[in-house]
Amino acid sequence: MTLVDLHSHILPGVDDGSPDLATSLELAQEAVADGVTHMLLTPHHMDSNYVNHKKDVVERTQAFQQALEQEQIPLKVFPGQEVHLTEHLIEAIDHDDVLYADAGNRYLMLELPHTHVPEYFMRNILPELQTRGITPVIVHPERNQGIQRNHQLLYDMVRAGCLTQLTASSYLDAFGEHVTQLTQEIIDANLGTTFSSDAHAYKGRRSRMSAAYQKLADNDRDKAVTYTGNAKAILNGEDVPVPEIQAIRTKKKSLWDKLFKSRK
Ligand SMILES: [Fe+2]
Repeated sequence: MTLVDLHSHILPGVDDGSPDLATSLELAQEAVADGVTHMLLTPHHMDSNYVNHKKDVVERTQAFQQALEQEQIPLKVFPGQEVHLTEHLIEAIDHDDVLYADAGNRYLMLELPHTHVPEYFMRNILPELQTRGITPVIVHPERNQGIQRNHQLLYDMVRAGCLTQLTASSYLDAFGEHVTQLTQEIIDANLGTTFSSDAHAYKGRRSRMSAAYQKLADNDRDKAVTYTGNAKAILNGEDVPVPEIQAIRTKKKSLWDKLFKSRK
């Protein structure tokens, strides 16, 4: 299986991902062993902790590609960012300080705040993005607390034209049974577009792409093929086929209610 990973923190020394080149090479080797051939490097950008300007990421990605070639690790890497949603997103786009998943600036890997989905996203930002021909790919929606509380929010975003990137390890067991379950429900409702690793250097957050794809193929072989194709299409800036979507049917409503009551 050859896989495209659209979300990774293995560029050395830029965020909470890999701390140094040796670790990055090790993570790259693991990804290759896991079946990944092409990887978008997506350091955090514009979240509360990190700013990784476009120019720096492009230069560092070139240097990392050279290091991979020197070590004969067969991984092709591309410069990207995990862009955090803020009210200044459109400004950053217009100042050319944002990297896309593809060279044609069509798909944007967009992270929502973890605790909620800001109301201004659907009202202001999404239409502004779409006016510029940009489609947001919402990263790890299954881990967003606003979506966890209200699954309808994700349906509304996909219906309005967003794509989504589910995290491979969410589909396995990295974030608890409730997140695994929600990931499955998102997949079943046709609200998922593809898997990526969101690989970091720490345990449990490594590349687990092949295991996630295997689990998906065991449930629905055609969908696993579609997900791998969608990742390639996003990286190439090509059309992604849009399936018929459904509302999420949760089997764990009482679990979510209990969880959020205890978080108050
Ligand atoms: Fe990430």
